[in-house]
Amino acid sequence: MTAVPDIEFRGVTKRYGAVTAVSGIDLAVPPSAFVALLGPSGCGKTTCLRMIGGFEQPSEGQVFIRGQDMAGTPPYRRPVNMVFQQYALFPHLDVEDNVAYGLRQARPRLSSREIASRAGEALEMVRLAGYGRRKIHELSGGQQQRVALARALVNKPAVLLLDEPLAALDKKLRTDMQIELQNLQREIGITFVLVTHDQEEALSMSDFVCVMNGGRIVQLGQPSEIYDEPADLFVADFVGKTNLLSGTVAGHSGDLVEVALADGTVIAARKRTALQQGEVVSVSLRPESLSLGAQASGPFKGIVRNRIFLGSTAEYAIEVKGIGTLLAKADHLIGHGNLFKPGEPVAIGFASGTPLAFAETKNNGANQRVDKHVEIIS
Ligand SMILES: Nc1ncnc2c1ncn2[C@@H]1O[C@H](COP(=O)(O)OP(=O)(O)OP(=O)(O)O)[C@@H](O)[C@H]1O
Ligand SMILES: [Mg+2]
Repeated sequence: MTAVPDIEFRGVTKRYGAVTAVSGIDLAVPPSAFVALLGPSGCGKTTCLRMIGGFEQPSEGQVFIRGQDMAGTPPYRRPVNMVFQQYALFPHLDVEDNVAYGLRQARPRLSSREIASRAGEALEMVRLAGYGRRKIHELSGGQQQRVALARALVNKPAVLLLDEPLAALDKKLRTDMQIELQNLQREIGITFVLVTHDQEEALSMSDFVCVMNGGRIVQLGQPSEIYDEPADLFVADFVGKTNLLSGTVAGHSGDLVEVALADGTVIAARKRTALQQGEVVSVSLRPESLSLGAQASGPFKGIVRNRIFLGSTAEYAIEVKGIGTLLAKADHLIGHGNLFKPGEPVAIGFASGTPLAFAETKNNGANQRVDKHVEIIS
């Protein structure tokens, strides 16, 4: 490993009475990384963030920040700051006083000049220079979000923790803020840990994604790795759209497994784990890995039931006898008239990649260390 991780979890478990919120997590986040914790509601994302921030203590294991064991260190002594989902600005204070709030609590006391200059710097970082005297209710939702960010950045934390910070914003503003957050992270170069249950947000913003399920890390990797090479059925299903087809293992050929689908079609697929003859599996076919043709060229034939035109691409729901509805995504070539209409018969083939077959029993998350990613990223 090249550098001391900014954050490290060693065998961290958190229990609330009978509920195990986080279970045996090992994780090392390299310096200056943008990490997303992604997973469904209740999988333990916020709990992980709160243990980094010091608002919760692990029941077992240790949390390190920049190599220091944080056991017994209260939140205000940790070199981290957190932006909460409900960012709770003080409505009776103006923008500058909201941002400067933490600085005023600092002991030993800072001079008013120091406070004003640091608050000004933080406001500049989030592109709100000149807004210092505005009241909170005189700001848009996105601007309020930026005040919350400035407030968290003002005391120069080593790590910024963000718990679903964009959840309250509408889609357009959310997309703008996603880009701004990414730029901000690159500019100031500190580690950002972003909690989200929005897989698009996680994939588009972060250097690496930590997919969680049931209190465990199920996969850790760069966004393209998570999308292209999901570790198990849960990740394949949770991250991105995919068709999951049920089938049984009919044979093996080299590294590939032959899977007989419900309609008798046999397709070759890659596998994650050893699969037995006759074992029930799910095969994942990404919509964009399918190709559509008017002539019979692929393993499936179907009827277009629905088309969603998206400009550069079109998404089709295609009914395939014995299989069900397949989702396919095709590029729209302007002027080529290659759009299919509802009711039209189409043949479906494979455009790219090899389908992935997963054992139906879910891999409930062998924890992984991120050390190999430390090298890739730093
Ligand atoms: N203070 C608490 N007391 C008891 N159980 C808790 C407490 N905080 C969290 N939990 C439980 O721990 C589990 C993980 O909760 P956590 O808030 O970390 O989930 P999350 O992944 O952030 O979910 P969401 O996306 O809904 O915010 C849940 O089952 C939750 O009910
Ligand atoms: Mg949460």
